[in-house]
Amino acid sequence: MDTITYAKMFAYSQFLVKLPYPTSDFTGQTIIVTGANTGLGLEAARHFIRLNATKVIVAVRTVSKGEAAVVEIVRTTQADPSRLEVWPLDLSSYDSIKAFAQRAQGLDRLDAMVQNAGILTQHWKVEEGMESHITVNVISPILLGLLLLPKLRESGKAYDKVGHLSFVGSDLQYLAKFQEKCTDGSLLEALNDKDKTDMGDRYNVSKLLLLYAVRSIARLSPVTLDSPVIINCLTPGACTSDIFRDEPGWSQKILMGIAMKIVARTTEAGSRTLVHAASPVVGVETHGKFLMDCKVYPSGPNVESDEGKVLEESFWKELVQRLEDIRLGVCKDLF
Ligand SMILES: NC(=O)c1ccc[n+]([C@@H]2O[C@H](COP(=O)([O-])OP(=O)(O)OC[C@H]3O[C@@H](n4cnc5c(N)ncnc54)[C@H](OP(=O)(O)O)[C@@H]3O)[C@@H](O)[C@H]2O)c1
Repeated sequence: MDTITYAKMFAYSQFLVKLPYPTSDFTGQTIIVTGANTGLGLEAARHFIRLNATKVIVAVRTVSKGEAAVVEIVRTTQADPSRLEVWPLDLSSYDSIKAFAQRAQGLDRLDAMVQNAGILTQHWKVEEGMESHITVNVISPILLGLLLLPKLRESGKAYDKVGHLSFVGSDLQYLAKFQEKCTDGSLLEALNDKDKTDMGDRYNVSKLLLLYAVRSIARLSPVTLDSPVIINCLTPGACTSDIFRDEPGWSQKILMGIAMKIVARTTEAGSRTLVHAASPVVGVETHGKFLMDCKVYPSGPNVESDEGKVLEESFWKELVQRLEDIRLGVCKDLF
């Protein structure tokens, strides 16, 4: 998408749209929110508790931070603390994801999962053999989603409800230049070439790849009586949070701080989009779709162009192979 079109869409969304305050009832539901110790995840968890979720699992990489978040949610909602559980989850470790998913199999039910945790950094770092955005923002949430999809399906069938598997993407995917793109070699290898990577574009690329993967899974897992799970991807828009914590240098931090003060939503307002995507009122019309301002939005030229379609297909093929290398059989229910 060209910058002017994006800027118009962004300005409309940030300045003119008032996001609906969540009012859906989540009574009886068990909901997992990743990265729920701070930012959008914390605010979403707070909403779910306020809206009567029976259990909210605060999935965090530092348990003490999760415990502090629970104290804060209980203080502001007067909820019974037993409705919140803190579970360790580090998306930069596949063992941690597998252990988390194994533990989740023991839940009585799982109604919704909001895959919110993510990173934005200018620093090149390799985790689980891939550049960190690709691991933390793409491969790990998809791995976790696939490991928990059977549990979501099982609960949906047992309780005659449609479950939700929602991924937090970003509208910055519209702007991804994706200079690493290639169709005649390994995309994952190209993405792991430090010299060829534009770190300024990497976050945008990671959110584009996440959308490719979400669309692919949704296509292979349509909403049926046997698989009552809606899978979608949303953007919260620009919101105040800790997401820019790694911006290098004080001058950039200050500039970013000023820019965010002018345009950003509060974290609470942004979190409404997370709650909306996973709420009972959201139906099959969002399955495999990109949501912005709590509405289905076009996925954008990076996805919908002929080139985008080819890239999505080849990325998905490669990702399936990588996921199967990480956990044999994880994609078997999709084929
Ligand atoms: N804020 C925005 O303007 C904006 C716009 C579009 C999309 N988003 C997306 O919204 C989501 C939430 O971001 P936010 O703005 O709330 O940012 P944030 O305040 O930085 O929160 C990010 C969360 O992700 C967790 N996290 C990071 N790396 C992790 C890992 N390896 N394993 C487990 N958890 C990890 C963080 O844990 P720690 O606290 O322990 O680091 C934190 O809980 C992200 O996916 C982001 O890309 C944000």
